[in-house]
Formats: sequence, structure tokens, C-alpha cells
Amino acid sequence: MSQPRKKVIFSAMQATGRLHLGNLEGALRNWVRLQDEYELYAGIVDLHSLTTTFDDTGEVRDNVRQAAIDYLAAGLDPEKTAIVVQSLVPAHAELHILLSMITPVSWLERVPTYKEKREQLHIASPSYGLLGYPVLMAADILVYRADVVPVGRDQEPHLELTREIARRFNHFYGNIFPEPQSLLTEFAVLPGLDGRKMSKSYDNCIYLADPPDDLRKKVGDMFTDPVKIRKDDPGHPDQCPVYAYHLAYSPGTAEEVRDECEAGRLGCVAHKQQLADILIEALTPFWDRRAAIAADSDRVDAVLEEGARRAAARTAETMDLVWRAMKLR
Ligand code: TRP
Repeated sequence: MSQPRKKVIFSAMQATGRLHLGNLEGALRNWVRLQDEYELYAGIVDLHSLTTTFDDTGEVRDNVRQAAIDYLAAGLDPEKTAIVVQSLVPAHAELHILLSMITPVSWLERVPTYKEKREQLHIASPSYGLLGYPVLMAADILVYRADVVPVGRDQEPHLELTREIARRFNHFYGNIFPEPQSLLTEFAVLPGLDGRKMSKSYDNCIYLADPPDDLRKKVGDMFTDPVKIRKDDPGHPDQCPVYAYHLAYSPGTAEEVRDECEAGRLGCVAHKQQLADILIEALTPFWDRRAAIAADSDRVDAVLEEGARRAAARTAETMDLVWRAMKLR
């Protein structure tokens, strides 16, 4: 008897910059855990990068490649998981244009990230593509008829919109798309070096490709508890990004460090040195794998070709259903 089909997951990251520690701990490690149980498509969404990077697109291709290397180094297994570069699979763009016909502009103007991006990036005259960002994301997910989408909490409004678009399509043309469920990543998100969310636009990231010396320097410059001025002042670990990292990477020693910090026996400089050692030890296996993969560029090419091939097979089935449902074929 044939096995019941595995449920399908699509998730993705943009290729706007290099991947950072938050991407690894918040998303990649989670995908690696899911890849046995699900049929997983791990996207690198380069078309989305164009919504904010359109004047200087030269970096995008290289970022895509570096992201693919990070995906593999984190432990995504190309035998199980399709690593999908969005622009290599035309069905994403095809479904996007069809969904754009049934998506009211008013829905898109309400999406919180649209306002945030305009303000943060000082975009005076937003493009049609930026407004349509969530429609492209809906197409990414629906073109695989994905059941589950692991995302961070900030992406929840996009997922809700994806479900609304799916419902509207199904209402007009028949039941093609399952409503994808979000799987919220429970991992406590690592803060950036300054205690805010880790983000390229805040320039507060530890990048996965940073060499150990850069990492040590960045940790040395990290913000700490603002009221712990002298090293023997009592500290407040819950307000300190160095402690947040310590807790994530060395939970076994966190309590001791908390006591020492609160008692004013552990200064921030010493604690940062300790943390840099912990991080370097924890990341060394990842860096070793990363270097080996980066040195084998034929293998990276082959992985991306195979990912595109599998994605094309799955998405062609969906597009066939879609064109028929819309009576265009
Ligand atoms: N918007 C997502 C982010 O910024 C990236 C993304 C694009 C995505 N398409 C997706 C995530 C589809 C999950 C599923 O993180």
C-alpha cells in the first residue's frame, strides 16, 4: 500500500543581504528539524529582494548563492529538501499575476510591513511591486499548495492575507488551495548586538560568514545593561543582550553567570570574552561545513538545479489545476 503523502511545507528567506545568526537560530535550525517529517521546499526569494533593491541588483545573485551555502551548512539535506531559488521557478511569478487580479488594493494598503518599509527606507513613491510584496509571498506558498508555513511572528499578517487570498480564489474558481497554517517559531529570537531586533537595516548583526576575529570584535562592542557602569556594579541580566546570547548558547552556565553579574562579581568585559569563546566553539562546526561547501561550487550548482527541477514538478501540477479552474485552458 502506498504511504500517505507527507504534508508540504514552504518557507523562505529574502536574499537582500547575507544571512545572520538570527536567521540560523530562528529559522534554519527549525527547518532542519522539520525536513524528515514534511516534504520541504526551502525558498531563497530573490524576486522579493527586488521590491527594495532595484537600482543596484548586482549583489542579489551572490547573496542567493551565499544563502544556499548557509542552508546546506545548517544541515538542510538536498536529498530530502528542495532548495528553491524563486527566480528559477517561473510558476511563482505566473501565479502571482493571477492572484494579483483578485486581491483588492485596500487589503494590501493595510499590511503593517508596507507602512514600516516605506518609513524605514524613506520610500516617497512606493512601487507597485512593493505594495504587491504579500501577493508574491502568497503565490510562493500557494503554488506548492503548502499545508504548513514556519515563520516568525512578524510574518503572521502576511500568512493571514495568504489565507484570505486562497479563500477568495477558491470561492471564485473552485477548491484548489488548502489554507496554509503558520507554524510559529518558538525559539526566543536572538537580539541584535544593540539589543534591538537583529536586522541588516540596523547594522547590528553577526553574519554567518563572519570570521572568528570579527565575531570577537563584535561581541566586544555589544551593548550591555545600561546601568552597570563599573565592573563591580550589580547588573540586570534580563536587560542585557550578552546574557540573552549566553542563555541561548550555554544554558548550563547561565545561572551561575546571572548570580555573578547580579552580585557585581562579573564585569561586562570579562563576560563578553567568555561569550565570544562560547560562540566560537558553538559555531566552529557550522563554519567548517560552510567552508567545505563553499569550496565545492559544482555541488552548489547541482543542488540548486535539482531544487528547481523538483519545484518545477510540484508547481506545474498546481498551475495546471489553476489554469483549468480559471477556464483559460
Ligand atoms: N516575507 C518573508 C520574510 O521577510 C520571506 C518570504 C517570502 C516567505 N515568501 C515567503 C516566508 C513564503 C515564508 C513563505 O521573512
